[in-house]
Amino acid sequence: MAGQELQIEPIAGALGAEVGGVDLRSLDADTVAAIRAAFVQYQVLVFRDQDLSPEEQVAFGRHFGELDTHPFVEMNADHPEVLDIITEPEDRTGSNFGGGWHTDLTFMTEPDLGSILYAIDVPPAGGDTLFASQLAAYDSLSDTMKSMLDGLVAVHSPDRQYGMAGQSKNSKAMVAKEGVDASRETEHPVVRTHPESGRRGLYVNPAFTTKIRGMRRDESAALLEFLYEKGSREPFTCRVKWQPGTLTMWDNRSVQHFALHDYAGHRRHMRRITVKGDRPV
Ligand code: SIN
Repeated sequence: MAGQELQIEPIAGALGAEVGGVDLRSLDADTVAAIRAAFVQYQVLVFRDQDLSPEEQVAFGRHFGELDTHPFVEMNADHPEVLDIITEPEDRTGSNFGGGWHTDLTFMTEPDLGSILYAIDVPPAGGDTLFASQLAAYDSLSDTMKSMLDGLVAVHSPDRQYGMAGQSKNSKAMVAKEGVDASRETEHPVVRTHPESGRRGLYVNPAFTTKIRGMRRDESAALLEFLYEKGSREPFTCRVKWQPGTLTMWDNRSVQHFALHDYAGHRRHMRRITVKGDRPV
């Protein structure tokens, strides 16, 4: 199909848009460019009523860059770039990883640019995903706070989630790989500049950030707590309610997300791919 006209409807004040008028299985270069521009602007794009095989989802993701694999979680055996996130009715949903604000893979030197999640089975109610714009959160700070944060560097580690005693060991939704060393650390600026829009945003998250370099433990903890609270305030969020066939892509360089686990007794099956990113600056 040539030149599909995107119908873009914002879903919240700070971020997020539903995009209609497009079949993600057949995109020309102009439509891909329009989706990419909307992705950078709205940070979260929601496409309804898509009918995608794993191969078609992978092909869609490749329009935006090379796909990544998760270093600590088992990928789909037939499709190594696909991660199935499955909660069965009998799984406890309160404590699984996912039920907390995070940005994917910030413990990597070059964290993923974005994630593309496709809904296969959804509960009759609940299981929504929340997103928070770290650009809007940064914009809301005073100039004095911004100039203090602009020079700071944070340490990120996968250990709290994927280490020996990590939270993901209890998760059935994503199956943790055995015997992978999660003790590594990497450093990123506390404020990153978006490589495409040039906007600045907060770049710390409670799942993977462990401390701010050069600060005492209590100072670091207090500042991080402030930034997490600021970064998840309601005016900076949007909420995606899933239906089978909904595909949502989010910009990992500018948002945090939170998968709500409020659907005990029901199945939820999502299929995720991630696009490789660059080093935050
Ligand atoms: C994720 O954290 O990437 C999964 C989000 C979701 O399952 O809604």
